Amino acid sequence: MDLPIELKSAVENLVENKSMSELKAASKIITDKYRNESGKGKKLVTDKLDAEVYSVYRMPATFGACSDALSYVSEFYSESIDSVTDVGAGSGAASWASDIVFEPAKITCLEREKAMRDLGSKLMESDPSVSSKTTWSSFDIIKDEIEESSDLVIASYMFNELDPDNIRSSIAKLWDKTDKLLVIIEPGTPKGFSVISTIRSYLLENNGYLVAPCTHNNPCRLSSDDWCHFTCRVQRSKLHKLLKDADVPYEDEKYSYIAFSKTPCDRAKMRVLRHPYITKGQVDVTLCTETENTKVTFRKRDGDLYKKAKKAKQGDSL
Ligand SMILES: C[S@@+](CC[C@H](N)C(=O)[O-])C[C@H]1O[C@@H](n2cnc3c(N)ncnc32)[C@H](O)[C@@H]1O
Repeated sequence: MDLPIELKSAVENLVENKSMSELKAASKIITDKYRNESGKGKKLVTDKLDAEVYSVYRMPATFGACSDALSYVSEFYSESIDSVTDVGAGSGAASWASDIVFEPAKITCLEREKAMRDLGSKLMESDPSVSSKTTWSSFDIIKDEIEESSDLVIASYMFNELDPDNIRSSIAKLWDKTDKLLVIIEPGTPKGFSVISTIRSYLLENNGYLVAPCTHNNPCRLSSDDWCHFTCRVQRSKLHKLLKDADVPYEDEKYSYIAFSKTPCDRAKMRVLRHPYITKGQVDVTLCTETENTKVTFRKRDGDLYKKAKKAKQGDSL
């Protein structure tokens, strides 16, 4: 899903008076920091220009990943979500996505960096229906306690920035303040998946009910050199294309995610792990099922399953 139109304009307005060379220099600094300094608990985006460039450069993709993950979760989770807490909210991508998927009455954005809080709340002014229900607070997951619990607690692209030693204590804080649903989204990289695996193990040990994407509670069956991730396609704005020197008008964002409920809940019986391979009259799909990861061939005689598999993409449930 692409950024809502008012948010997209607000993001572009932020940098309209800046030169392309200034923006490219800032985006290079951010990219280098994310590449070299992530996962050590360091501060990565701290000043106004860096935060603005983050929202141009990364927010469309993180918003796309959050929207995708939440729509997969909402396929199986049908209870109402009246309140959301977005931890490490940054420029607000997960809050915007949660608002679209669940239409909560209240959103709380918790974020350590002032530059990000200022930017995120300014972007929300582009849609009074979102800003009027949202509060932004200074918050460090390592030092602070979450004051109020919410139906949905969400954190996107934050855990991989923490020191690995702090992941279990931080997820414990989020789970403690979750009334209904906890969703964590991370980059679809081996490192992002390893964070998701740590969180999965912790929540299974602490009375969590796994909603998505897994079809079972057993240890993940992927081999140690593989990682579970999905892809969402996001349209690039003209500005984004220029900033990234991109040829194509879209980017494919890879992400990993995990969702847990406080109460028992349905989940997928089969989930597509790789893009289906379609030939005449048949579809080959790699599936994660309750009992195995397996390659299955659906043929026309399989009826609905064949039709669904033909249309499915990696990450879809069957
Ligand atoms: C990569 S950004 C992701 C922002 C947003 N959630 C998104 O998906 O676009 C990570 C955010 O987590 C915040 N963060 C990192 N460590 C944090 C901590 N210890 N406590 C609170 N926020 C933190 C950063 O300041 C940054 O805004």
